[in-house]
Amino acid sequence: MNRPAWLKDAVFYEIYPSSFYDSNGDGIGDINGIRQKLPYVKDLGCNALWLNPCFDSPFKDGGYDVRDYKLVAPRYGTNEDLFALFREAHELGIRVLLDLVPGHTSEEHPWFRMSGQAERNEYSDRYVWTDFWIKGTPGHPYIGGETPRNGTYMLNFFKCQPALNYGWAKVTESWQTPLDAPAAKATRDAMADVMRFWLGHGCDGFRVDMANSLVKGDDENKSYTCALWKKLLNELRAEFPQAAWVAEWGWPKQALCLADFDMDFYLDHPGNGYNRLVRSADAYLKGNDPLAFATDYLDQYGASHADGYISFITGNHDTPRISWYLTGDQLKVGYALLFTLPGVPFLYYGDEIGMRYLETLPTKEGGYTRTGSRTPMQWAKGPNLGFSQAAADALYLPVDPAPDAPTAAEQAKDPGSLLHTVKAVLALRHRFPDLQADGSFEVLHAQQGDPLFVYRRGKLTLAVNPSQKAVETGLAGTPLFQIGAFEAGRLGPCSFVMLAE
Ligand code: NOJ
Ligand code: CA
Repeated sequence: MNRPAWLKDAVFYEIYPSSFYDSNGDGIGDINGIRQKLPYVKDLGCNALWLNPCFDSPFKDGGYDVRDYKLVAPRYGTNEDLFALFREAHELGIRVLLDLVPGHTSEEHPWFRMSGQAERNEYSDRYVWTDFWIKGTPGHPYIGGETPRNGTYMLNFFKCQPALNYGWAKVTESWQTPLDAPAAKATRDAMADVMRFWLGHGCDGFRVDMANSLVKGDDENKSYTCALWKKLLNELRAEFPQAAWVAEWGWPKQALCLADFDMDFYLDHPGNGYNRLVRSADAYLKGNDPLAFATDYLDQYGASHADGYISFITGNHDTPRISWYLTGDQLKVGYALLFTLPGVPFLYYGDEIGMRYLETLPTKEGGYTRTGSRTPMQWAKGPNLGFSQAAADALYLPVDPAPDAPTAAEQAKDPGSLLHTVKAVLALRHRFPDLQADGSFEVLHAQQGDPLFVYRRGKLTLAVNPSQKAVETGLAGTPLFQIGAFEAGRLGPCSFVMLAE
């Protein structure tokens, strides 16, 4: 497998820029705030960051509606601040991925403004338009009546996010653009140009939003979108061999094997392995058996591990926080499992201290039910839990009002805290190459009705019991690491153990 070597031992930390740390007291997180907190990220054991979009935007979808791909949103700072973040992160051995949104722009992007003009111009075919004001794009959401142009345009997500045009797999209507049309190539080149810009300034790669959405009318296997990515990524790799790309795709067999991404997220899709591991009513980590998780995961892993890395997530800015599903002890055992599986794991900011999902918050910037997972990082007891010097009512989102809201400072003092467990597990992963992205993986025990899960990574054997009952493992040896109890082969309730061969 020819992937950047640094990914072997990479552990990512996802930061929602508005909510991490406010360095200038205006109530909203910013790039300089992230710079100030780099030592915290390093101390945690993370050596890579993914920042959600930090570009100029009307913020109708938390910045996934980009107005200028090459400009840092003024509320987050300047391009120079971001370049400085790259430099300072690198000095600490931390890589930085930005978020690329290639499928759509904001309706306020100058390309779209030009595209909506009645007269033909350079950007007329940058987006997917029909050729009559009342004719829609069948099978896809579309908008009419907004621009002087005699046509309607296709959406990729919200109303504010018109779909960029990468061409159609099969042209069946006169208004559709073939894949090899100059306009489709121009869109692709524009996105390559954006990536070159940031990579040239020290960024280490991209998380790619809705990576499977580019070619319209694609087949079941997304063959045309995969071919587009493979070509584009390999062109960029020739110039930036250490850059890395993680797809928001959720289907490693396509994203890794065909589209040639380095990593693909194991997203929370109803009934899939990740969902059955962490979030479903009968999830393994809630104390059930691991069969549904293991079956789905082994299928994807088996088919893709020679090509790239599956990325387990604690959560992300789109899902309720993991603490919504699991208790404190289950979280410890759950993280031990998530962070000792193959591939490249991602930790969502605040999950290391078990920040809560604030279910009842009103929607902010297109967040809806996602808003409750985007509240400010809880640094320390005191005003705004250490997030900002602004007045509480001036914050981007309120901090968790609960008197026992967890904070990083308090947990740092408590050896029994979730934060300590996360640090210990990540340190373990860095110490043993067998636990890292490329180490081999084999399931030794996963049975119906049995909460014990045993797996081997290289020379190491690991056992998990997220249930309330002790289980017999049949394993012997001195633990190299444990959570909870392991004695004479018995693994206690909510316990985890790692043994040498
Ligand atoms: C996926 C992103 O994670 C989500 O936050 C966003 O709303 C959509 N893509 C649209 O860009
Ligand atoms: Ca600020």
